[in-house]
Amino acid sequence: MDRRNFVRLVGGGVITAVTVGALPGCASFTAFPAQAVEAWNGPGAETDVRRRAVAFAITAPNPHNMQPWIVDLRERDVITLYCDKERLLAESDPYARQILIGHGCFIELLAQALGEQGVGARVKLWPQGELPMQLTAWDQRPVARIELTTGGQRDPLFAHVLNRRTARWGYDMARPVSADAVKTLLASAGSTIVMTGGTVEAAAVQRLRDIAREAGLVDKAVPRVVIETLGKLRIGSAEIIAHRDGVALTNFLARFADTFGLLDRKAVPALGSPADRQMTEMYVTTSAETMGWVWLVTDGNQRTQQIHVGRAFVRMQLKATEMGLGLHPMSQALQEYPEMASYFEAAHQAVIGKPAPRTASDTTVQMLCRIGYTTEPTPAAPRRPVASIVRA
Ligand SMILES: Cc1cc2nc3c(=O)[nH]c(=O)nc-3n(C[C@H](O)[C@H](O)[C@H](O)COP(=O)(O)O)c2cc1C
Repeated sequence: MDRRNFVRLVGGGVITAVTVGALPGCASFTAFPAQAVEAWNGPGAETDVRRRAVAFAITAPNPHNMQPWIVDLRERDVITLYCDKERLLAESDPYARQILIGHGCFIELLAQALGEQGVGARVKLWPQGELPMQLTAWDQRPVARIELTTGGQRDPLFAHVLNRRTARWGYDMARPVSADAVKTLLASAGSTIVMTGGTVEAAAVQRLRDIAREAGLVDKAVPRVVIETLGKLRIGSAEIIAHRDGVALTNFLARFADTFGLLDRKAVPALGSPADRQMTEMYVTTSAETMGWVWLVTDGNQRTQQIHVGRAFVRMQLKATEMGLGLHPMSQALQEYPEMASYFEAAHQAVIGKPAPRTASDTTVQMLCRIGYTTEPTPAAPRRPVASIVRA
């Protein structure tokens, strides 16, 4: 399917965002502790080529900021990437599709950071075969073996790595995004495997807003999914410094609720409670403030394709950064748990005019992201130190 056909086919769009935004007490922001966000200063005085590259790669976007990667540097001139099985999101992402998209983002930044140093990257995905769909059957096989070569090329998008953010809040409703801007953004994906599409057409945007919002409301009502997310909350400086991952909250409301036992992280907030109302408001506001949608689609849903989606997506987020645009995945409608099935179907119908995939050979909408010009800067999210993921 060529891109123009694809865009036309999609015409309208739908999707939703999950997680971080929908969390209690996200409305105001107090800075994250400097130590937790030191990754965003870059590798500093580090001189080792591979470690410098890893220092950039850890800033990759990834679901719930779980940073589920392990990097093995024991083989000379090779970087072997593994998925950390302890950091999966089995409820919201039951086949680790999104987790592996995050690995694609990591690989893309790694390759760019090597290229920036004049070093090439020969990326061999799944050198011991793809991980199976069922998480229970996962073993410790590598996601990728990246061999350093001569002749690395610089990529202009690399200039934006340390400024890239997932902008979730405050899109300027008075500032439309042009169809040309969408075209530029889509072209930046630079993939022959991943199909990109987008819309700023009013009816199509609204259709996808509706799907995204409603899927968000489903997501916040499925107890095991909500409890999984609550378990990834890091509230206040001490927790954020201790974990440097997950959904970090520093604002007063979250700290107050936590301190005084008003937020039980092991229980779903009661319907109509302040936390529940905030989650509802988050989905309603975020979807309403969406000025356009873009999506990434693959002709099948193999592990290799998921990795390529990540590579394409982070390229688009880097381009969005350059363009001053927010690019925010709203993934709820694409989550593969049974309670979401009707929105999973609706999202596929709206975006590709086809049913939701039944097998790994069916066309799959991998990501749905809202776009808009942000009204306020987005703070950098915490990252774990390089040393915590490297095996050397
Ligand atoms: C596959 C994938 C799905 C994501 N889905 C969502 C989402 O539904 N809602 C959201 O707010 N962020 C989503 N994100 C963004 C992550 O939450 C974000 O990358 C992470 O919290 C780190 O923040 P940063 O990108 O600003 O560094 C997603 C990212 C990836 C790679």
